[in-house]
Amino acid sequence: MTALSSQPDTTASHEDEIRVIEAAAPPERFARGWHCIGLIRDFTDGEPHQIDVFGTSLVVFADSRGKLNVLDAYCRHMGGNLAQGTIKGDSIACPFHDWRWNGKGKCSDIPYARRVPPLARTRAWTTLERNGQLFVWNDPEGNPPPEDVTIPHIEGYGTDEWTDWSWKTLRIKGSHCREIVDNVVDMAHFFYVHYSFPRYFKNVFEGHTATQYMRSTGREDVIVGTNYDDPNAELQSEATYFGPSYMIDWLESQANGMTINTVLINCHYPVSNNEFVLQYGAIVKKLPGLSDEESAGMAAQFAEGVELGFEQDVEIWKNKAPIDNPLLSEEDGPVYQLRRWYKQFYVDSAEVTDDMTTRFEFEIDTTRAVSNWRKEVDENIAAGRVINSTAP
Ligand code: FES
Ligand SMILES: [Fe+2]
Repeated sequence: MTALSSQPDTTASHEDEIRVIEAAAPPERFARGWHCIGLIRDFTDGEPHQIDVFGTSLVVFADSRGKLNVLDAYCRHMGGNLAQGTIKGDSIACPFHDWRWNGKGKCSDIPYARRVPPLARTRAWTTLERNGQLFVWNDPEGNPPPEDVTIPHIEGYGTDEWTDWSWKTLRIKGSHCREIVDNVVDMAHFFYVHYSFPRYFKNVFEGHTATQYMRSTGREDVIVGTNYDDPNAELQSEATYFGPSYMIDWLESQANGMTINTVLINCHYPVSNNEFVLQYGAIVKKLPGLSDEESAGMAAQFAEGVELGFEQDVEIWKNKAPIDNPLLSEEDGPVYQLRRWYKQFYVDSAEVTDDMTTRFEFEIDTTRAVSNWRKEVDENIAAGRVINSTAP
């Protein structure tokens, strides 16, 4: 434990005691679970790709049948970086001495050698291709994914009725990825950081999932892309983390007299315990009468609105202190319970306790927040303090 401010003066009376921030070092291990490392379409360009994750580097390559394989990036011969190599047939060829490694991690050929050493094997990662995205399974204990721990199909994705992903990637140095997970319960920051106006807010944690139900409107004093150009837009959001790092957010907006269905992905993977890559993207259900280009434009506009919010999240994360003992008000949501839920991914499977996985529900009473925020928005408008983030 490190104290970030001075210890309380023991001679002071109880009322004079000051709160001291406590923060243990971030965990050394990386979370057990499926991690989305990017879009399939970005990995199928005939080139190998390097992903820096879990404190190491991996190489992603498509074999001749288009199947994506993920191996440790560093060649077991003399450490060459396979991500700088070339795909040859079903194998990735190292740039250093051309050793070939297949998708199972076995050395399939050494063109200049009489025989391949029988133990020439490197680490192949378990993968999942779903919703147009590639996932790798991480388990520090080395176990395969349990059958009930998977990533659900997003209904509609891949059909003509929905757009494809409008996708963004952001690398964030100087923060542990647990900072982003705290957002699940953090109603108030949606007003201040994401410029939305929460009206209803509830969390449910159960097993390996954590859900946030939120009903919000736009803020009339801030125009953002997520409102689809309607300051009176109403948004109904059901956002669930499936495991430690992949959230699907199903959104229904009422904007400009229309109902717009959007699915937002908010996911991340750890580079180290002090750096992570945040990825997010949106698809939109095409509206009747709109061309494919116009629908894709809507998804892009929505993703940009989300981007603004995330950029502001990032500024907060980069400059904040880690804190294990947040000082909470009644409207802050179940931060401690959420962190208990999140802890299940950082302990051995045998150490997962019931209090990490038992169903837990909590609804925030938003009455006070709504009436004060209403006043603040009105005052901003009266004073001409209006932000239009979508203005060119
Ligand atoms: S280091 Fe990879 S082939 Fe030699
Ligand atoms: Fe946030």
